[in-house]
Amino acid sequence: MKKIKFGLIGCGRISSKHFDSIKQIGEDEIVACADIIESRAKDSAEKYEVKKYYTDYLEMLDKEKLDAVIIATPSGLHPEMGIESAKRKLHVVSEKPMATTVKDADKLIEACENNNVKLFVVKQNRLNTTMQLLKKAIDKNRFGKIFLVQSNVFWQRPQSYYDQADWRGKQKLDGGAFMNQASHYVDAIQWLIGPVESVMAETAILGRKIETEDTGSVILKFENGAIGTINTTMLTYPHNFEGSITILGENGTVKVGGVAVNKIEKWDFKEYDDDDRLIEQSNYQPPNVYGFGHLPYYKNVVSTLLGETSANTDGQEGRKSLEIIEAIYKSARTGKKVIL
Ligand SMILES: NC(=O)c1ccc[n+]([C@@H]2O[C@H](COP(=O)([O-])OP(=O)(O)OC[C@H]3O[C@@H](n4cnc5c(N)ncnc54)[C@H](O)[C@@H]3O)[C@@H](O)[C@H]2O)c1
Repeated sequence: MKKIKFGLIGCGRISSKHFDSIKQIGEDEIVACADIIESRAKDSAEKYEVKKYYTDYLEMLDKEKLDAVIIATPSGLHPEMGIESAKRKLHVVSEKPMATTVKDADKLIEACENNNVKLFVVKQNRLNTTMQLLKKAIDKNRFGKIFLVQSNVFWQRPQSYYDQADWRGKQKLDGGAFMNQASHYVDAIQWLIGPVESVMAETAILGRKIETEDTGSVILKFENGAIGTINTTMLTYPHNFEGSITILGENGTVKVGGVAVNKIEKWDFKEYDDDDRLIEQSNYQPPNVYGFGHLPYYKNVVSTLLGETSANTDGQEGRKSLEIIEAIYKSARTGKKVIL
């Protein structure tokens, strides 16, 4: 007997991470999948041995006996699909970002609360071995007072990437580099350092024909006094170059870099800790910038649904980075500092 029965909506690029993770866990199952492009739903069903496929996700929700729904469609569609799932008393696993506006995210959170179902927002980068080690160092207060944080997301997304699907680079369905590609880094920074007090940002469309920014920088002030910056561009020549977070504190300096926070490049603390011996083994070579985090993410989803633990990133956790990104956009639009 499989324990949790999932339905998956959106059989595009990221869906393989979901299909593969649940297959690897082994005890649970994706019993149906849906995509408006029939060939995608059909091909995924065949490849991953999914029993039924649909082109209308509502039909799937109504006909199948599901426990939870995975939403891997364009970001702006996550709230309405999540709300339809919640209304049917199905738990919701939403790809990041959970919505493209805080208002829509709140509607989704409210629907899940009112229907007493759980809401998970995929933030798999938090589970990278490198990031877990860094988080542990912060929780142990190894940095002392944290002064400055910097995150760089220097990636390359050619025009052909944006042209491969209508929703990419659109305001309502996608958002720009901060909302899509750098959103993991916005999330990581607030998860590591703490609540953000204010932001000042500049964004621009410098190299692509899209509605939203391909480049931007933001200065963040944290409630604990630390100052941070996030710099992102999708125009890096010739390909993805760096996805990093650097933390400078009273008693420590760390840079987790590589192409997607997969390599500890600097790890220097005043006091020794046994964790220092884990640096080399925590580095890894990801097949792509998505990393390996979906599998541990799903282990947490399943254990949470079985009542054994609590959600790694629930709706309220997923909302935090979205609120910061919305503030970044407001600051860039108005030219003013935005207080959160
Ligand atoms: N966690 C991560 O690191 C990560 C990585 C990539 C993408 N994502 C997120 O996953 C989501 C999907 O991204 P992608 O790159 O797989 O996009 P994609 O365009 O490759 O896939 C989206 C799929 O949804 C389908 N779809 C659109 N409208 C639908 C509808 N009404 N009903 C059913 N299916 C519908 C499309 O036909 C397409 O196959 C986005 O929100 C993105 O931000 C997350």
